[in-house]
Amino acid sequence: MTHASIFDSSSISGIRLQNRLIRSATHESMAESSGAPSAAQEKLYCDLARGGAGAIITGYAGVQQDGRSSYSGMLMMHDDALIPAYRRLTDAVHRCGVPIILQLAHCGRQTRSAVTGMQTVAPSALKDLFFNEDCPLELGEREIEGIVRNFVRAAGRAARAGFDGVQLHLAHGYLLSEFLSGNANRRNDRWGGSTENRYRIVSEIFRGIRKETGDYPVLAKINGFDHRRGGMRIDEAASIARMLEASGCSAIEVSSGTIEEGLSIMRGPQFPSDALLACSFRFRSMPWFLKKVLKPIFRLALPSPRPYRNYNLDAAKAVRKAVAVPVIAVGGIHTMKDISSALGSGAADYVSMSRPFIIERDIVRKLKDGKQTASRCIMCNYCAILVEENPLRCWYGKLPLEKS
Ligand SMILES: Cc1cc2nc3c(=O)[nH]c(=O)nc-3n(C[C@H](O)[C@H](O)[C@H](O)COP(=O)(O)O)c2cc1C
Repeated sequence: MTHASIFDSSSISGIRLQNRLIRSATHESMAESSGAPSAAQEKLYCDLARGGAGAIITGYAGVQQDGRSSYSGMLMMHDDALIPAYRRLTDAVHRCGVPIILQLAHCGRQTRSAVTGMQTVAPSALKDLFFNEDCPLELGEREIEGIVRNFVRAAGRAARAGFDGVQLHLAHGYLLSEFLSGNANRRNDRWGGSTENRYRIVSEIFRGIRKETGDYPVLAKINGFDHRRGGMRIDEAASIARMLEASGCSAIEVSSGTIEEGLSIMRGPQFPSDALLACSFRFRSMPWFLKKVLKPIFRLALPSPRPYRNYNLDAAKAVRKAVAVPVIAVGGIHTMKDISSALGSGAADYVSMSRPFIIERDIVRKLKDGKQTASRCIMCNYCAILVEENPLRCWYGKLPLEKS
């Protein structure tokens, strides 16, 4: 694809984008304790907009209390009282001429009771090895219907707050992703078993949104694959994409991986053992000698999956073949060459990026003006570990103490 066509405008369900480069959802640990966006977050989104992003997808926003992230400062959209704060945010971003989409999520078992104050929940009572909580509570029929209702209500609030659309987070092992995965969903009622049954919760959410909010744009982020036994595979992801299209989905972003698998969602040349052992809730209070033993084990047991660039393109291509709705590819697409080939090879209609926008909020402008041909991100992934408790920023492979 030519430089010019990457920077041509286009639209997704009436949402006007000034180019084909989207800021992928990125949790920022910046929200107020109420779940409302903070002034720092408003500045971040306005910087991204002024920096040329074609559209902005927010960090994930929780639809109910037990679906909160284990990380601090998660956006929430569980209460009408939050609408005015979000309205200020969308107005500010719209003044920069860029659309903003709210990502809606329930974290399922990928969170901690210490943070939510409630037991974790999941489609099936299977322990998550990273979060290491007691077995999550298997959701009952009434609770599933309640979750559907809360996604629908949150989408309605997003529309009233001026968001151009919402994106359902169906990827990365969070609750809706777990429902879709044959590995995490072992139910044998109408919410489990066949792909259609595992998809039912998503189709109910779409049905509810259509009833309440008409043809409001609803995008989805899915896993094209994961590395779990019996988990998501590309051919099943393509079937799910067809179901999403039939549900009226506006665009499908294709990602991969779960948190339990290590850093397969955001890959890099080296596993960030130092940051994980020093800063993550999971390991930081371990005695030093245990950390010393664990470090080489991490390196051996958790090698970063390869390749660490352009790793979801095969899945995106299969999804794009299966549907007519626009497909967004994400995952290690960090250079102009990567972008041109993702768009030019038929793998995707749009490219989204996360880490490149963390190190340079104006990366799109720089690529457009030819000032740079690649992101300066070194894929150290310290951002992903340290965002547990620190506002999002680039650490460029250095722990906070090393910085001071
Ligand atoms: C710090 C951080 C936070 C993230 N938060 C989210 C999130 O809230 N929702 C989501 O769907 N993906 C999230 N991701 C994943 C990214 O959207 C993206 O799929 C992944 O990083 C690969 O893209 P990249 O190579 O452009 O970074 C996050 C990634 C990072 C690094």
